[in-house]
Amino acid sequence: MLDPARIMERCDALARHSELPGGLTRVFLSPQARAATDTVLGFMREAGMHAKLDAIGNAAGRYEGSRAGLPCLMLGSHLDTVRDAGKYDGMLGVITAIECVHALNASGKRLPFAIEVIGFGDEEGVRFGTTLLGSRAVAGIFDRQALAATDAAGTTMQQALLDFGLDPAAIPRVARKKGEVLAYAELHIEQGPVLEAEGLAVGVVTAINGFSRLRVTLRGAAGHAGTVPMRLRRDALAAAAECVLAVERVAQGQAEVVGTVGRIEAKPGAINVIPGEVAFTVDVRAPQDELRHDAVAAVRSEIDSVCRKRGVDAAVETLQEFGSTVCSPWLMQQMDEAVKRQGLRVRRLPSGAGHDGMALKAITEICMLFVRCKAGISHSPLESITEADAAAGAKVLLDFIEHFRLPA
Ligand code: GLV
Ligand code: MN
Ligand code: MN
Repeated sequence: MLDPARIMERCDALARHSELPGGLTRVFLSPQARAATDTVLGFMREAGMHAKLDAIGNAAGRYEGSRAGLPCLMLGSHLDTVRDAGKYDGMLGVITAIECVHALNASGKRLPFAIEVIGFGDEEGVRFGTTLLGSRAVAGIFDRQALAATDAAGTTMQQALLDFGLDPAAIPRVARKKGEVLAYAELHIEQGPVLEAEGLAVGVVTAINGFSRLRVTLRGAAGHAGTVPMRLRRDALAAAAECVLAVERVAQGQAEVVGTVGRIEAKPGAINVIPGEVAFTVDVRAPQDELRHDAVAAVRSEIDSVCRKRGVDAAVETLQEFGSTVCSPWLMQQMDEAVKRQGLRVRRLPSGAGHDGMALKAITEICMLFVRCKAGISHSPLESITEADAAAGAKVLLDFIEHFRLPA
């Protein structure tokens, strides 16, 4: 029996592992991530799975099929959060998948395939600026250069893994081979307003928008805020301000393209000093890769012209890019059927947010089920879902699992 109240309680329980007093922030390889991961490993064992922490810090559980060693249907989502996050982005997918296994195990049901549930250690990329670290390791596309990336305190990912008790040299062993994973299915909150507007509890995802993440560093000249005349300044922050507006303008110029500057830092950062150096991030997304590439090219050219005009040097570095990822038609079809069998209307919709399936696509076919969230709010402590919608999502996911089959 599925227990939706337990799903809600477990999301609440995980939200208590946070570095932010009174809120939720849990980044990759932090002590709070360790506590949440250990909690999830406990939930997995209670559901009848073999569960272990893997070498990249994912919680990985396996429920054998009708005989040991069969290829698996992989389910999951992520356990890391953005800063001041909601408690469902990522966690709902992991907890619901475990709940489905719990229900199968409680009724002694074994399927003609194994089920693996993974709580990915990093999807958001908050700590090291590069995303999908857990799922990329599982998909065998983890870039070892990422080990040299540093967090805000200057700690390398390599060191953070060691501090977490993990062996970075073992990361390649996390990779799964094609054929071991029959498909990947992820339940996730919608993070947008469409399902709520249409009065629907769940939706079937068609594709995940691609993204480009850039880091821009502008170098002007620091100076005395009282003595340097305005016409002689090379103010890196004033230049950055124009660049931020240029990102917004470029994105506004193309329906379906979105562009965000989410982080900016000015140095030296004093009230009476002209900022000499500014670093900011740019996140550009679109459903079609060509649209996104054009938008990124336009952003780069706007930054160049702002900086030329202001005598400021600009360095633009691509941190990460992921192409848009299409969900497999046969899996969407099977998810549609599960939605219908549960007496719900099928609604297909694309995802503007990134998800672990983008990485998993390198080794297997993927699909996703969205669950309605209140007012479409996510990446915010106001993120909220109802227990009834959690129940609807869990029922559809369990139905999908029980009827899952490879295409003829
Ligand atoms: C992850 O939530 C992302 O889309 O950035
Ligand atoms: Mn997120
Ligand atoms: Mn997410």
